[in-house]
Amino acid sequence: MTLVEYEVKNDAIAVLTFNRPDKLNALSTELLQEFESHLNRIETDDSIRVVIITGKGEKAFVAGADIGEYADGNAQAFIDYQFNSRRLFDYIEAYPKPIIAAINGYALGGGFEIALCCDVLIASTNARMGLPEGLLGLCPGGGGTQRLTHAVGRYVAADVLLSARRLSGQRAYELGLAAEVVELPELMDAALKKAEYMLKVAPLSQKEMKRLIRIGMDAALPTGLSLEQEVLFRLQSTEDGQEGITAFVEKRDPQFKGR
Ligand code: COA
Repeated sequence: MTLVEYEVKNDAIAVLTFNRPDKLNALSTELLQEFESHLNRIETDDSIRVVIITGKGEKAFVAGADIGEYADGNAQAFIDYQFNSRRLFDYIEAYPKPIIAAINGYALGGGFEIALCCDVLIASTNARMGLPEGLLGLCPGGGGTQRLTHAVGRYVAADVLLSARRLSGQRAYELGLAAEVVELPELMDAALKKAEYMLKVAPLSQKEMKRLIRIGMDAALPTGLSLEQEVLFRLQSTEDGQEGITAFVEKRDPQFKGR
């Protein structure tokens, strides 16, 4: 059985679906390997411009790390799993193409951490996002304490972490975590619509703007501003930069080539 389904929509949008619904799509080592190999392949496939990640079924996006593996594994297996997840989640965050998380239910632990590495979150009303590792006597290990705090500030993060509170899709939207909240049956349409808007934006611009956002989270403002200007000058001299301006003047749609 394939643990991560791969589908292409509109020739340019990859949909990756975590497919372990009987275990609420928990992140087994094997599932993570499949997920990463899809991402590796998509990264070098120029025809794919946007990735959507979601979970199979109506209950869960991903209910976190596979706790069964934690229980079975030895200490070294646990350490390997954590290092690997951290590396993979960093890769998702730095991915050169936009990634949309379509959160269709529980996004807990590593599931929420993956979502926090994506660029845009779209939640269904039944989404429940949280970092319940404290209930297991642990703490998040894939960036949850850090990325959630960066995203929503220390007080909301402390509330989520210290009481294992789950944020509903609506609450995530109010906090600015989710760009949209919709009823579950409308979730994939909403994600695809967002992806279609993204197809209109030049791919090199997206890649660079993702980097600017990421760097801007940590850098001092003057550093970020200087980098932004450097990037703009570089983009303006690309084929796509020229094409975008020419197409606007000629009143036609631009044909971006990623160059
Ligand atoms: N790892 C492994 N299996 C998991 C899992 C996880 N993170 N989360 C759920 N499952 C499994 C359950 O063991 C159960 O399997 P079973 O039917 O073989 O017993 C199945 O998925 C359904 O889960 P269940 O707990 O029966 O559903 P529920 O609706 O009663 O509760 C949750 C849903 C999400 C509240 C609950 O499953 C839960 O708390 N999961 C763990 C979340 C977590 O701590 N994540 C962080 C891990 S570090």
